[in-house]
Amino acid sequence: MLEHDVLVIGAGLAGMRAAIAARAEGASVAIISKVHPVRSHSNAAQGGINAALTDRGDGWEDHAYDTVKGSDYLGDQDAIEVMCQSAGQALIDMEHFGVTFNRDDEGKLGTRAFGGQRRARTFFVGDFTGQAMLHVMFEQLIKSGVRRYEEWFVTGLIEEDGRVCGVTAIEIRTGQVFVIRSKTVIFCTGGLGRLFEPSTNALIVTGDGMALAYNAGAQLMDMEMVQYHPTTLAGSGVLISEAARGEGAYLLDKNGERFMERYAPNMMELASRDVVSRAEQTELNAGNGVNGCVYLDCRHLGKALIMEKLSQIREIGIDLAGVDMITDTIPIRPGMHYMMGGIKTDVDGQTNLPGVYAAGECACVSVHGGNRLGANSLLDTIVFGQRSGVHAAQACRDQEYIEFDVEQAARREERRIQEVIDRPQNGDRIGSVRLAMGESMNRNLAVYRDEAGMLETMHDLQGLKEKYTRVPVDNKNRVFNTDLVFALELGFMLDCAETIAVSALERKDSRGAQARTDYPNRDDENWMKHIVTVKGEEGPEISYSPVSITRWTPEERKY
Ligand code: FUM
Repeated sequence: MLEHDVLVIGAGLAGMRAAIAARAEGASVAIISKVHPVRSHSNAAQGGINAALTDRGDGWEDHAYDTVKGSDYLGDQDAIEVMCQSAGQALIDMEHFGVTFNRDDEGKLGTRAFGGQRRARTFFVGDFTGQAMLHVMFEQLIKSGVRRYEEWFVTGLIEEDGRVCGVTAIEIRTGQVFVIRSKTVIFCTGGLGRLFEPSTNALIVTGDGMALAYNAGAQLMDMEMVQYHPTTLAGSGVLISEAARGEGAYLLDKNGERFMERYAPNMMELASRDVVSRAEQTELNAGNGVNGCVYLDCRHLGKALIMEKLSQIREIGIDLAGVDMITDTIPIRPGMHYMMGGIKTDVDGQTNLPGVYAAGECACVSVHGGNRLGANSLLDTIVFGQRSGVHAAQACRDQEYIEFDVEQAARREERRIQEVIDRPQNGDRIGSVRLAMGESMNRNLAVYRDEAGMLETMHDLQGLKEKYTRVPVDNKNRVFNTDLVFALELGFMLDCAETIAVSALERKDSRGAQARTDYPNRDDENWMKHIVTVKGEEGPEISYSPVSITRWTPEERKY
């Protein structure tokens, strides 16, 4: 019998941090992940992690204010206070775990500037901070004695008497279906970037956890808030870190003009991401780009700085676009990067489903509101990963395992999976349905949106969902059947896509990442509220949740 007090789903930074914290509380803990932990998408985080350290004359209140303003006042201020107050200790914990953060000339932890913040409070490891943190966290995970199910794919939650009591999962190596019993489940499954094509996200980022939770009755919140990062590489859409602008890079239009002067005269290229992406898109729409891109100019930073602090993005530019940022400008454009919305939780990761928690990008606490500040996501993963792990472990202490028929649950899921494999071969290909979804989302739910476009995508999604019931799985074997995994992922993606489109249509104002050309202004009187979706008979059903305001009165955002 596979059975654990706490089962963490997803082994990126949030998942591993949650598992380590739960284990430290004395719980029996397992972590399950469809990829090996160090292949998780946290790897791709480049620029850094924010924390306001008092010995630098910084204060958590300043960090919190910048975060609230960055969120376009949709972030819950009580949750933002928790995150920013915890940031210093969370960062030091990472350093003590073994992360070799860059140091300044005095040998202290070094910082760089990041967008939407009035101070340089972003700690970093070159331009591969996520990778550095992920590998160290994996070492700590091994040391902790947490049981690892690596390359296992969770296919469903098992509920008895209104409480989640385990999951069904496929061991990808053998294709066998298992039931894993648990007293609590923590979703740390990351975002859903690949609902959009292109995206900065890895191909594995397919919204699995959000969809699994949603299908089990969890509330999703702020799903309309999709972040487009201002600097993604022409063609592939790979991330070119904000760290470049943090170190002083400029954005130029086709005439060499630093156009941000007209959009954010004080913060320029380091205004918040939604503001910079909108500025770029406006310039592109006005014909001031080249081949759908504007330029990032790093040349004046000099070779030494680039080689020391931005070497990974230099290589990306050379390998994928044939440009060397030491000598050339880089063609970039806004691209889908991050999901502010997700499974609604409190600050301890609790969802509306008893025994179910969520942390990291799949969760919506909500500390990012309408727009996340760069380098607040790594912070979010470790702060709320830890809090969820602790809370879930403590909640297990007086809890017995719920009895249910494990064999029957495994057999039922086995039959369902076999039916997917056995589908006739005459439907549309998985890849073509996925691409059509991604292109429709990117066309109509991007930097600028309007009702007609979003209705078009709703219509596209209905057609694609119908096609999805017939997509064939080519590989009929069980061993390492990635075709099967892609098919199951696609179902999760379509569920999530629908909640995004429905929520974005519902919000009739412009705020943060949602910029509607048909409702161009922020309307606090009617829309200073979160949009919540739950699964209904006919699709997503909408309700609202109030925004927590503790000390910062909403005002117009200027950078
Ligand atoms: O631009 C970046 O390095 C991305 C960082 C982030 O999304 O936090």
